[in-house]
Amino acid sequence: MMRIDLRSDTVTKPSGAMRKIMASAEVGDDVYGEDPSVNRLEAYAAELLNKEAGLLLPTGTMANLVAYLAQTRPGETLIMSEGAHPFHYEHANVAMVGGLLVRTIPDIFGKFTAEKAAAQIVLEDDPHLSITTLISVENTTNRGGGACWDFHEFEAIAALCRKNKLRLHCDGARLFNACVATNIEARYFAQCCDTVCFCLSKGLGAPAGSVLVGTRETIHRARRYRKMLGGGMRQAGVIAAAGLYALEHQMDDLRNDHERARRFRRALEAEGNIFALPSPTNILYMQIANADAAAALLADRGVLVLAHGRDLMRVVFHRDIDDAALERAIEIFKQVLGNAQN
Ligand SMILES: Cc1ncc(COP(=O)(O)O)c(C=O)c1O
Repeated sequence: MMRIDLRSDTVTKPSGAMRKIMASAEVGDDVYGEDPSVNRLEAYAAELLNKEAGLLLPTGTMANLVAYLAQTRPGETLIMSEGAHPFHYEHANVAMVGGLLVRTIPDIFGKFTAEKAAAQIVLEDDPHLSITTLISVENTTNRGGGACWDFHEFEAIAALCRKNKLRLHCDGARLFNACVATNIEARYFAQCCDTVCFCLSKGLGAPAGSVLVGTRETIHRARRYRKMLGGGMRQAGVIAAAGLYALEHQMDDLRNDHERARRFRRALEAEGNIFALPSPTNILYMQIANADAAAALLADRGVLVLAHGRDLMRVVFHRDIDDAALERAIEIFKQVLGNAQN
């Protein structure tokens, strides 16, 4: 049976060409700064996003955390959307490790206005209050259905941060999906932010790794926190080489994932199915009663999806889903959902 894994773009496997590059990667001890492949990737990422320096981390979770640690002090407040990944899925690390208070903002598709953010900022010298020092935005938004920020909304958040002397971090786990979908280069989003991280391990197709970029000083601090958290990976050039290959050769393929997501949505909407959120990139949320049971029926036929609460199902397109897999997935969805509704 053909297995079609639509649970996440994290399930992508390194391509043959990528594995060859990994096998022959030049390596050294990265904790001593001696891994040439890691150094190359960090410099490449910094240049791509027009920042002074980059830092390779094992995961997006650690990239967000070290970005927060490097730009805040315990007891301060950090603002993010109520659907933000670090708020939901990063095991309260911001509180446990960073000693930070999180104020969340009700969001629309994972995004919020500068006006809403402004209402949450605390700057007063009142001894009762924790002072806000950082805002974190997500682009694309995971729980927001892969939505992308409009550039003027993004700039407005940056202006708010400048005005109030706050730092701005972008959790760009899928930043290049946003770039491809909006035709805005990553450096323009990055110029609004103090720090940006992006994942190599999602739609880009590398097996692991995220990169954080920012000023030399911030990245120097972040490097210390990476070590503190156990993220110094020694001969990480094997991973860095895969990441560099992904950035150089696989970025444009993200367009295909978006196109297949659109085709999937159109085909199922034509059958009367409802999608909960706009899906301009590769993540879709489909409305379905008893999502767990529907996911189990799909799994019986080889299609893996994530039930998301009681009545939502998450479907994610990625580079390991080709046209044949897309067509087959549509067919199986029609069979299963048709039966479920009868
Ligand atoms: C928006 C967002 N941020 C951060 C992460 C964390 O990445 P990782 O799984 O590499 O820790 C994810 C993972 O899905 C994500 O979707």
